[in-house]
Amino acid sequence: MGDALIVTIDGPAGVGKSTMAKRLARLLGIPYLDTGAMFRSVAWKLGPGAWEWPEARLEAALDDFEYGLSGVGEDSVLSLNGTPIGDEIRTEEVGMWASNIATLPVIRTFLKRAQQAMGEKYSLVAEGRDMGTVVFPDAPYKFFLDASVAERARRRFLQLRELGSPADLAALEERIAKRDAQDRNRAVAPLKAADDAMVIDTTGMDRDQVLGVLKEAVA
Ligand code: DC
Repeated sequence: MGDALIVTIDGPAGVGKSTMAKRLARLLGIPYLDTGAMFRSVAWKLGPGAWEWPEARLEAALDDFEYGLSGVGEDSVLSLNGTPIGDEIRTEEVGMWASNIATLPVIRTFLKRAQQAMGEKYSLVAEGRDMGTVVFPDAPYKFFLDASVAERARRRFLQLRELGSPADLAALEERIAKRDAQDRNRAVAPLKAADDAMVIDTTGMDRDQVLGVLKEAVA
């Protein structure tokens, strides 16, 4: 893995991985890699129902996907075929599509290679579901963030409102629980903490407290 420093942050939907990854990456002076955005962008580009396509069709479609990364911390920019990935992928609906395609080995293999290629090129704070378990098993610092479904739905609610797409809190809670179940129970690279990850239950902690724990561990 060259001389790159890799820090992994895994955890379920809405736990605050992106916020923490951005802030930790800023402190370390390196980019953060939002791998959920990679799954979301594939889901968004291919559209709903792509998870039912035959493998050969998916493989052919993936030939046209090339990811790039630039910047540091919260200014990191993930692009797809030269265009920065925008907020259009940030809806809960696209999150569910992403979770659906994320069950498919052909998609996971393709994105894993793209993620590992970026880890060869850059030091990274990489966040997702399988960063510490599958994509970067040798990373020296691994974190797994968790929080109750109710707490995560509340956080996502606030985040979506900030993005200008308000959601219904109860519906959000139900969707998050459903996505959790699918992400945790899939056959390939299910969501779980790596054996050597530091597990942090962030329920009742604010962002600065969580960042403090991460900072101390990598110091
Ligand atoms: O973190 P997120 O909500 O943006 O991720 C969207 C979906 O993508 C998530 O429900 C499952 C999938 N995903 C994955 O399977 N593996 C990753 N490393 C990141 C995301």
